[in-house]
Amino acid sequence: MEKVKIAVLVSGGGTNLQALLDAEGRGEIPSGEIVLVISNVSGAYALERAKKAGVEALTLTKKACGGQAGFEARLREELEARGIGLIILAGFLSILSGDFAAKYPKRIINIHPSLIPSFCGKGYYGLKVHEEALKYGVKVTGATVHYVNEIPDGGEILLQKAVDILPEDTAESLQLRVMRQAEWVLLPKAAELVCKRLTENDQRKGG
Ligand code: GAR
Repeated sequence: MEKVKIAVLVSGGGTNLQALLDAEGRGEIPSGEIVLVISNVSGAYALERAKKAGVEALTLTKKACGGQAGFEARLREELEARGIGLIILAGFLSILSGDFAAKYPKRIINIHPSLIPSFCGKGYYGLKVHEEALKYGVKVTGATVHYVNEIPDGGEILLQKAVDILPEDTAESLQLRVMRQAEWVLLPKAAELVCKRLTENDQRKGG
């Protein structure tokens, strides 16, 4: 059975990318294969992680592409050229347009560091999500993997995992616990879940 070709989009340190690469190495994503990593930020450490794992790594910045439309056009070219079947947003801190998302229905997933629908949507990314959770005073947070549609963080939820907030938490300590207990566990699981669905759909269609 042919594996689904996966592209991972990143913007920063790439610990979620690393979790995906490690899971693939352990044979936990048997229905998919990570073949491409694209960063929208030059010099992102995630690019190094890709290279170390022997995965092709590209940088595409909005600036170099002349804005959002140019960026998305280049992105599509790179994805189409490699026959990508699943796009994983793993700490990709830029919002893709509704038009772009509509081109890949149920073929883009995102990891968000809260229990959606709390602390999500435009402006909620990275450390800011955990700062807001602490400010609000919630006692439980977590992470969510969801399909990407035209609404930021609004697509169908695939997986969620709750994480306790401790009285002494800072945004940084909370971010790390959410990553360790939830994000790095959920994202590889979701990748396999979706790749398996896609390969089963292809088989049913006789593809
Ligand atoms: C992760 O916590 C991810 O959930 C979050 O950014 C961090 C990236 O870390 N993503 C968002 O906030 C998306 N709205 P990483 O580069 O080490 O994977």
